[in-house]
This record gives sequence, C-alpha cells and structure tokens, in this order.
Amino acid sequence: MKTITSLLLFSATSLAKTLYVSHYDGHVYTLTYNTTDPNPETSLTLASTLTACGSMPSWLELDADAYLLYCIDETGTSQTSGNGSLTSFDISDVSRPAVVSETGTLAGGVASVIYEAGEEGEKFIAIAHYEGSSVSTFPLPLTNDTTALQTFLFTLTGPVTVPDRQDAPHPHSVFLDPTASYILSPDLGADLIRIFAINDSDGTLTECEAHKTVPGDGPRHGVFNQEGNRLYITNELADTVSTYSVSYKDDCTCGLSLKLRNEIVPSPTGKLPTSYVAEIRIPNNSTNVYVTVRGDQSFAPDDSIAFLDPSPNPTGLVAKNLTSSFGSYPRTLVISEDGSLVAVGNQKSSSVAIVQRDVETGELGELVGNLQVGDVEAGLSSVIWGSD
Ligand SMILES: *[C@@H]1O[C@H](CO)[C@@H](O)[C@H](O)[C@H]1NC(C)=O
Ligand SMILES: *[C@@H]1O[C@H](CO)[C@@H](O)[C@H](O)[C@H]1NC(C)=O
Ligand SMILES: *[C@@H]1O[C@H](CO)[C@@H](O)[C@H](O)[C@H]1NC(C)=O
Ligand SMILES: *[C@@H]1O[C@H](CO)[C@@H](O)[C@H](O)[C@H]1NC(C)=O
Ligand SMILES: *[C@@H]1O[C@H](CO)[C@@H](O)[C@H](O)[C@H]1NC(C)=O
Ligand SMILES: *[C@@H]1O[C@H](CO)[C@@H](O)[C@H](O)[C@H]1NC(C)=O
Ligand SMILES: *[C@@H]1O[C@H](CO)[C@@H](O)[C@H](O)[C@H]1NC(C)=O
Repeated sequence: MKTITSLLLFSATSLAKTLYVSHYDGHVYTLTYNTTDPNPETSLTLASTLTACGSMPSWLELDADAYLLYCIDETGTSQTSGNGSLTSFDISDVSRPAVVSETGTLAGGVASVIYEAGEEGEKFIAIAHYEGSSVSTFPLPLTNDTTALQTFLFTLTGPVTVPDRQDAPHPHSVFLDPTASYILSPDLGADLIRIFAINDSDGTLTECEAHKTVPGDGPRHGVFNQEGNRLYITNELADTVSTYSVSYKDDCTCGLSLKLRNEIVPSPTGKLPTSYVAEIRIPNNSTNVYVTVRGDQSFAPDDSIAFLDPSPNPTGLVAKNLTSSFGSYPRTLVISEDGSLVAVGNQKSSSVAIVQRDVETGELGELVGNLQVGDVEAGLSSVIWGSD
C-alpha cells in the first residue's frame, strides 16, 4: 500500500515542474516545465505574470516549508538612495504566486539568503546590496511595516585594482556556511569575502574580519562543497574560480577562516575569451561544480557553462568541459533537487534554458526546454526551481 501511494505521488509530482523567474522588466514570471514533453520548443510554458518586486526584480529565494517566495529589487544607485525593495509571495498555489507584503530596502539588492536563529527557529533574510555597498538583514515573515534589523555599510579602505568596477564596495551575494552559523558575502568592489557570525539567540550578525582575495579578483558568488571543507568562489573581474580551504575554531564568535588553495580559469584549455564568470553551483550530494560564463561566445550566439570537479586534484578544481548555455549571458543557474536537470537564466537572450544532466558522470547534455520571457531589452535576472 505504502509503495503504491509513493509511486502515485511520484508520478503526480514528476509530470510538471514549476520555475520562478525574476526579470529586470519589473515582473516575476512563473513557468511550467512539462517533463514528459520531449520537444524543447514546447515543454516550457508561461503560467503566470505578476507586476511586482519594484522596477528591477533581481533575485528570488524560496522558503518552501512556509510556502513563501521572496524577491529582491535592485532599484537604487547609491548607499543613500534607499529605494530597493523586498517582496514576499504566497505560493500555496505553486503556479500562481500572490503578493503578501512589500517593504523598502537600501539600494541595489542583488542576492539574499534566509537563515534561522532562536529557540523557535525564527527566520531572517540577509540581503547583499551591490550599489548600496552594504549588507542588511530583516526579520521574517515579512510585513509591509518590517524594517531592517541591521545594516552594515562599507567603504573602501585602500587602493583598488580595477578602478572602473571597484569604485566602491559591491557585495554581490550572501550565503550560509555549511554549519549555518556564518554568512559570507563576496564583495566585488573591495576584493573581500566578508564574513558575519550569526548570533544563534537573536539572529543578529557580528561582522568578522573579512578575507582579502587576490587583488583584482572581483569575487561574486560562492558555494561550499558537500563535506564543508572547501569554498569555491567565482571571480567576475579576474574571470577565474578560486578554491579556499575552510577551517573553524570553536572557542570564539568569529572562528571561520579561509585559506586560498588555487585559482583557475574554468576552461579545459586554461583560456577563455573575454568573459565574466557569474553563478556557481554544486548538485545535491555531488562533487561536481558548474559555473556560468557570460559573454565568452564559445557556442555563438550562446555562451557557456563550465563543468569542474575536484576529484583529480586535492588542492583545487579541474575544468573538465565547456557546454552551451543555450542563450546569451547566463547570469544564474540552478540544479533540480534530484540533480537531473539544470535551469539556466540567460540575461541578454532573456530566456530560460533547461538542460539534462547525467547524474552519474555529471556531464550536461541535451536542451530539453527553452523559453524567451519578458522584455529582451531589460533582460532576465534569475530563475529558481519551485518545490514541486
Ligand atoms: C505534456 O507533454 C505531453 C507529451 O507531449 C502531452 O501529451 C501532455 O498533454 C503535456 N501536458 C500538458 C499539461 O501540457
Ligand atoms: C529613490 O530615493 C531617492 C532618495 O531617497 C529619491 O530621490 C528618489 O526619488 C527615489 N526614487 C524612486 C524611484 O523612488
Ligand atoms: C501589503 O502591501 C501589499 C502590496 O502593496 C498589499 O497588497 C497588501 O494588502 C498589504 N497588506 C496589508 C496587511 O496591508
Ligand atoms: C547574542 O544575542 C544575545 C541576545 O540578544 C546577547 O545577550 C548576546 O550577547 C549576543 N552574543 C553575541 C556574541 O553578540
Ligand atoms: C550520495 O552519493 C553517494 C556517492 O555517489 C551515494 O553512494 C549515496 O547513495 C548518495 N546519497 C543520496 C542520499 O543520494
Ligand atoms: C538533497 O539533499 C538534502 C540534504 O542533504 C536531502 O535531505 C535530500 O533528500 C536530497 N534530495 C535528493 C533528491 O537527493
Ligand atoms: C563535453 O560535453 C559534451 C556534451 O555533454 C560531451 O559530448 C563531451 O563528450 C564532453 N567532453 C569531455 C571531454 O568530457
């Protein structure tokens, strides 16, 4: 009986998969991927369109347990312009998100991470503000009156290597360490990996000493390996991927430290045409690493996804392959929970591409879904999988 029930559940949930898209045209879109449709031109369809998340929706994050979706708005051009926003959506109906609350934030939000603290497991969200040169946190669930719990404003403290891009600190992402006790924030403008310790009783952050990257790296996004002893960072300005070893001291608030092991160009030839690495992801329960390469035109008119793995090299990553991003300027990439599908958010072609992944070898394969979404001029900012 149990087997029959789970088989039925499995087939019911495996037929269609939901994806949410944030778009710089001021909309949040919901897509449905029909897993039984072999035609990539018809398998991915638009399920709903919402005008929401300010004028520049840039990043989405799911709180699946609470049936909530959060969206970050990149509007605003400086530390003081103060007009980005944070929006929450009810997704009890997976394909029809509905706005619940919206509140103002500092400018230029580009990424977020949800974290927990307190005996009751209260939730919080931290936001990286690229133009706002800051990191802010908000208590969840969000209401229209929620104000920031904390705001960390950063200034440059020394000379930079790439003055036109490093005119100010530019935190580009925020993510948790594997112990969920720290938040890391690669800062493209300051060549730092900022580190914050989470106070487990009240959710406030303590700013720790930041790790200095190689000058000119311009760190953007990062991911920890499954074991939690390595951190991989994409460096947008150097167009490289760094491997750091991770260690902890237990007896202090700021006990996480990083040590650079190596830095490579994420291509089997060791070279890439002028381009800008962006997203970096590791599938569930895997050592494979995938990096989006924007603008290399290796599969013109499309760019590429780099496939890397640490297995042959204990100190760092080895670039195994480049495959097509099936669109232009892959800003984000997300892997399905079972590891079999990769969704690519292509900014300039304003499209989502779904690619098969071989769960045994890690090789990316055929294009199985492709859809242009929204205003191409504005560009698509991110895509994530729903929880179905
Ligand atoms: C999904 O694709 C299959 C195969 O093409 C088709 O038979 C089915 O009607 C599609 N489902 C939906 C909901 O469109
Ligand atoms: C953004 O904030 C600045 C300063 O508070 C204000 O001058 C500007 O009008 C705001 N822009 C929008 C679109 O709200
Ligand atoms: C919060 O704001 C949203 C969007 O502006 C609105 O739809 C909703 O009714 C507001 N909620 C409350 C409780 O006022
Ligand atoms: C964590 O928060 C609690 C409650 O606000 C406070 O008493 C404690 O000092 C904080 N710990 C640190 C390390 O800041
Ligand atoms: C994780 O991967 C290992 C090695 O590939 C495999 O033995 C194990 O069954 C996997 N676990 C899960 C939960 O998928
Ligand atoms: C993915 O990983 C999480 C945490 O390790 C685990 O709970 C979940 O079962 C995994 N999912 C799949 C499909 O392997
Ligand atoms: C690179 O990936 C392509 C497409 O998945 C595959 O056909 C090819 O065999 C791979 N090459 C290497 C060297 O792994």
